[in-house]
Amino acid sequence: MAGRFSPYKFDPSAAVDDHSLALLLEAARWAPSAGNSQPWGFFTSRPGEREHERVVRHLAPSSARWATDAGLLVVTLARRYVGDTRLLYSEFADYDLGQAVAHLTVQGQAMGLDAHQFRAFDLEGLTKELCPDPGWVIVSMIALGKAAEEPSASRDRRSVADLRSAPWSLSE
Ligand SMILES: Cc1cc2nc3c(=O)[nH]c(=O)nc-3n(C[C@H](O)[C@H](O)[C@H](O)COP(=O)(O)O)c2cc1C
Repeated sequence: MAGRFSPYKFDPSAAVDDHSLALLLEAARWAPSAGNSQPWGFFTSRPGEREHERVVRHLAPSSARWATDAGLLVVTLARRYVGDTRLLYSEFADYDLGQAVAHLTVQGQAMGLDAHQFRAFDLEGLTKELCPDPGWVIVSMIALGKAAEEPSASRDRRSVADLRSAPWSLSE
C-alpha cells in the first residue's frame, strides 16, 4: 500500500486493454456496501474513443496536464438520492462508492496500473454532458495508466498513533 502513489505524469503510449478494464470493474463489483445497495456507477473512456473527448473537454487545466495521457479515465458516480427527490437512497452511498474505488485502484496496482483520483474538473459541465439518471451524482474521476515518474520522496502521512488519538484531542 505504501508503494501506491498518485502520478502527475502518465506514459501516453501505455494503453489499458479491454481485459484490464474488465478486471478493474470486476474488483469494484465485489466491494461491500450498506445493505448490499451497490450504489456506484462508472463512466469509462480511453484515448481515441469518442467518450474520452466528451470527458476530457471538462477537465480543469490542472488535471488536463496529466490526466489526458492516462490510458483510462473513469468518472465515478454515486446513487445518492431516490429518483429526483432529496431523500437519501443510502446514507452510505458516497462511503460505498469510495470503497468500490479503493477495490478498483488496489486491483489496478496489482496489475501495474497506477491511479490518480481527482476532483479537478467542471462538475456542472460534465453532469450536463453525461446526463446521469435522477438520483445519481458524479463524485470524482480516476486517471489510470502507467506512471511516467517516480513517487516523490516526501509522501507525508499522519502517524498511526494520531489516527487513534486525534478525534478525542479536545477532551484532553
Ligand atoms: C477524492 C479525491 C480527490 C482528489 N482531487 C485531486 C485533484 O483535484 N487534483 C489532484 O492533483 N489530486 C487530487 N487527489 C489526489 C490527492 O491529492 C492525493 O491522493 C494525496 O495528495 C496523497 O498523495 P498520494 O496519493 O500520492 O499518496 C484527490 C484524491 C482523492 C481521493
